[in-house]
Amino acid sequence: MADPIIQLDHVVKRFGELVVLDNLTFDVQPGEKIALIGPSGSGKTTILRLLMTLETLSGGHIIVDGEQLFHMKKRDALVPADEAHLHRMRAKIGMVFQHFNLFPHKSVLDNVTLAPMLTQKVKRADAEKRAMELLDMVGMAEKAKAMPAQLSGGQKQRVAIARALALQPEIMLFDEVTSALDPELVEEVLNVMRLLASETDMTMLLVTHEMNFARDFADRVLFFDRGRIVEQGPPGEIFTNPREERTQGFLRKVLAAH
Ligand SMILES: Nc1ncnc2c1ncn2[C@@H]1O[C@H](COP(=O)(O)OP(=O)(O)OP(=O)(O)O)[C@@H](O)[C@H]1O
Ligand SMILES: [Mg+2]
Repeated sequence: MADPIIQLDHVVKRFGELVVLDNLTFDVQPGEKIALIGPSGSGKTTILRLLMTLETLSGGHIIVDGEQLFHMKKRDALVPADEAHLHRMRAKIGMVFQHFNLFPHKSVLDNVTLAPMLTQKVKRADAEKRAMELLDMVGMAEKAKAMPAQLSGGQKQRVAIARALALQPEIMLFDEVTSALDPELVEEVLNVMRLLASETDMTMLLVTHEMNFARDFADRVLFFDRGRIVEQGPPGEIFTNPREERTQGFLRKVLAAH
């Protein structure tokens, strides 16, 4: 097996007294598509936010692409990461959130070109060429000149995916990207994600309540409860033949709700 691209090593995350991630250890292989499932409050979003360095660790280590995320080497000692280290590490990871936070006063095209031009010093012509390719991939090329307010929720979310991809991350994180959408708009976004999963070798971590989608998409499903992995395995195993009672109970509940 290749070296893992992400390693969580005894990760602890507390908010005050509340232990949200409880000694969590798992690896992700390059190119792997992982679905994170579990009840509300089990810590799924917190894992993604830690990977985005939007939260700090309470304990343990996260290693991305062979390097500590929150620490760096200085004369053989590990010291807290400085801004330059965080900046470099952040460039490896992109995220799409539940609420597409597009810049409301920028066109679709500008939403996709802005970050590469500002943070990666990509020239406008190159940024626009790449943006149009990405917008084409998510089926939004005709709306390049539109403003976000003129788009449906599903269209906004597809632009948000193109925007995250424009920075060419090695790893993409998706947090319930369809759960704020009207039901008839869900499928168009899932189709884009299916395309990404099948056509790219990007590593993808996805939090979802869409179990049918998780089954198609994932190489491996991790079931969380209370900040721990209760059970993990290929979707065929987890969804068809879960071993743990807590997994069985959770799946019964979410499948009954759909
Ligand atoms: N900034 C914060 N301050 C205090 N508590 C927080 C904070 N962020 C998250 N929590 C708590 O941490 C726990 C895990 O939250 P998290 O958002 O990771 O859950 P989740 O598995 O994504 O749930 P959901 O399925 O509802 O999105 C919850 O109990 C939540 O209330
Ligand atoms: Mg969440």
